[in-house]
Amino acid sequence: MRPSPLDSTSPLLDLREITVRFGGIQALDQVGLTVGHGETVGLIGPNGAGKTTLFDVISGVRRPNGGTVLLDGGDVTRLSETARARRGVRRTFQRVQTFGWLSVEDNVLVPLDGRRGGGGFAGDVLSLPGRRKREQQRRALVAEVLERCGLAAYAGEQASSLPIGIARMVELARAIAEPPRLLLLDEPASGLDDGEATVLAALLADLRATSGCSVLLVEHDTDFVMRHSDRIVVLHQGSVLAEGTPARIQAEPSVRAAYLGGAPDRDGARSA
Ligand SMILES: Nc1ncnc2c1ncn2[C@@H]1O[C@H](COP(=O)(O)OP(=O)(O)OP(=O)(O)O)[C@@H](O)[C@H]1O
Ligand SMILES: [Mg+2]
Repeated sequence: MRPSPLDSTSPLLDLREITVRFGGIQALDQVGLTVGHGETVGLIGPNGAGKTTLFDVISGVRRPNGGTVLLDGGDVTRLSETARARRGVRRTFQRVQTFGWLSVEDNVLVPLDGRRGGGGFAGDVLSLPGRRKREQQRRALVAEVLERCGLAAYAGEQASSLPIGIARMVELARAIAEPPRLLLLDEPASGLDDGEATVLAALLADLRATSGCSVLLVEHDTDFVMRHSDRIVVLHQGSVLAEGTPARIQAEPSVRAAYLGGAPDRDGARSA
């Protein structure tokens, strides 16, 4: 049966038979995965398993060679990254992507620019009081997000001068400035010190508890991902190897062999 658009019973994200090839490399091979409304799904797997490629497909950076991306039951496979962002899909990157020449505050402000309203110079003159008010609202919203992300002290700093952990938090602040519907986090804890990891953990818990947003979390820190996910999906060599609750996945022999406990060697035996 074809899913109908905006079907409220659909999962928020429904990936069907996603295939991506890079020349001779099969990065993703008929991957199916769902993320429910308000659900946090941990996506784990060894280096090269295809996790970031899958994020590229979901966010619209990469068109898959085959398969379908459904958001709220509607087919978005051919929609641009911008169109998906408008539908509430936000992401952070494995290699942090901030606007290095802008301040931390302006980095978070950029995605809120759509709230400014159009009309050019004439619009500016005619609706100046309204615009000023909106500008104040945007700045207040940014201040609040920076505070939540432990970044208030960095508001005026140029993004290119930040250590990696802080830059990651800036990316996250930008992604949540307007409440996302689907948040894709690609190794958000990588490079964070203990204090920053604590802020990140609190933010994720808060997002899950209060915003109702769905999260797909890629993270090599196994403890972190198990603690913050409702369900885990394991990717291995471009295919889904297993999925289940964190407890089930941790006990799954094939997952332990492929990932948690070291990769299997050519004879299929587990290496240390
Ligand atoms: N732009 C590209 N061109 C060619 N091959 C690519 C490209 N991007 C990814 N690959 C290949 O696709 C496969 C999946 O890569 P991907 O980066 O998605 O893995 P990953 O699970 O995110 O790994 P990691 O944990 O190291 O980040 C790998 O074999 C990788 O070398
Ligand atoms: Mg990756």
